[in-house]
Amino acid sequence: MTVPDAATRKRLFLRTWGCQMNVYDSTRMADVLAPLGYAPVEAPEGADMVILNTCHIREKASEKLFSELGRLREMKREREAAGGGMVLAVAGCVAQAEGAEITRRAPWVDIVLGPQTYHRLPEMVARASRAAGAVIETEMPVEQKFDHLPEQAASQGITAFLTVQEGCDNFCSFCVVPYTRGAEYSRPAAAVVAEARRLVAGGAREITLLGQNVNAYHGEGPGGRAWGLGRLIRELAEIPGLLRLRYTTSHPRDMDDDLVAAHRDIPALMPYLHLPVQSGSDRVLAAMNRGHTAAEFLAVVERLREAQPDLALSSDFIAGHPGETAEDFAQTMALVERVGFALAYSFKYSPRPGTPAAGAPFQVPEAEKDARLQALQTLLRAQQDEFNRSRVGLVAPVLLTGPGRHPGQVAGRSPWLQPVHLAAPLDMVGREVPVRILAAHPNSLSGLLAAAEGAPASLPAEEPAPA
Ligand code: SAH
Ligand code: SF4
Ligand code: F3S
Repeated sequence: MTVPDAATRKRLFLRTWGCQMNVYDSTRMADVLAPLGYAPVEAPEGADMVILNTCHIREKASEKLFSELGRLREMKREREAAGGGMVLAVAGCVAQAEGAEITRRAPWVDIVLGPQTYHRLPEMVARASRAAGAVIETEMPVEQKFDHLPEQAASQGITAFLTVQEGCDNFCSFCVVPYTRGAEYSRPAAAVVAEARRLVAGGAREITLLGQNVNAYHGEGPGGRAWGLGRLIRELAEIPGLLRLRYTTSHPRDMDDDLVAAHRDIPALMPYLHLPVQSGSDRVLAAMNRGHTAAEFLAVVERLREAQPDLALSSDFIAGHPGETAEDFAQTMALVERVGFALAYSFKYSPRPGTPAAGAPFQVPEAEKDARLQALQTLLRAQQDEFNRSRVGLVAPVLLTGPGRHPGQVAGRSPWLQPVHLAAPLDMVGREVPVRILAAHPNSLSGLLAAAEGAPASLPAEEPAPA
């Protein structure tokens, strides 16, 4: 690839909403556009191309898109008045779901492209510059995007995302993802390993494997046999320089024995797992089409905790799914009490057009949804605070990821995904170091280099708290 000089370099601004896969996709769109001379910039002002990578999961997500498009319209006009131009593209799940409706409401948009078409971006940019109307690509192409995407150009830094699986065949009653991302697809193991090696060569020390239903991974392994996620993790853990692995998002139903065993056997696999349960009521879980009961979820949690007693769990919850009664909701609260989560995301049910739950009878009144969400969030918040406090006094291995907020500070990440702030020289970034946790804050921890207090660098993570 030839690197464009300053005169031909074009400015690309990418704005990303939604899940980690969208964050990963944005890095891949930048990779695809790099050979055309586009280099990422931090703000839309003066950009030659703006891509809004959107999320459709809840209502407010698409409203944010249209208000952003309103602001960009002005910017585009100003650039055109000054003799320049701005290619405006809408990507992601709103693009997939709404397609031409976007250019109907915002005719100043040049390109609308769904998540399975990113490899075709250069061709779309060329067409957009020739065509009078907008370019809209929202089919799910037969060819595999991953076979046509270039190798990464840009480093993602110390912590990186890597999509191993995309799409979902589960069709939960409330969810748009099977419609916006399409059918489940697992990338071949060799392609994943090669990409992981490149990420590590580019400086990554922690990789999070991504998939809408990541633990349903069944990519082609050597000799044509399918590999599960556990097998893939074992292979990736062998890459020199790769210190940590994580994966998200998992479905409780797809937590197989080999993956559970990986939590026991693979030290690089971090003791933290996001395992959405949505509800604690069997009636609601059935209405949601989740394919498991509350007891089955608790059994999965037990197997995981047996394999890795230090495991911290996070989850997703929906309050007020159609048909949810006060008693159903009480069962969700009881499940939360029973499990004890380190972190959780909870949402008020939001009807999504085209999904089965949106048209279901017995929609829960808005005020009731609000009250339930609030009760749930209060409980989850208390559990998160308790978990964070339980880390105080421990010496934990912290991966230093970059500069902190204040001079002399660096930011890092605990094994349990909490941000950690501490005083350390910047040249230690990229290393995993023992840190004594001194204080817990609502969403982070702070500590002190354990080496600095005279402790040996090999202290175990579970070093008992000092009196
Ligand atoms: N693949 C993941 C979740 C993807 S969406 C899984 O299997 O659970 C992320 C979260 O958004 C979901 O777990 C769910 O809690 C929430 N969510 C999805 N659709 C929603 C809707 N219509 N209303 C409210 N929350 C929703
Ligand atoms: Fe959506 Fe359910 Fe698939 Fe998760 S498993 S992406 S919630 S349909
Ligand atoms: Fe949103 Fe699409 Fe991710 S709807 S959560 S960006 S898969």
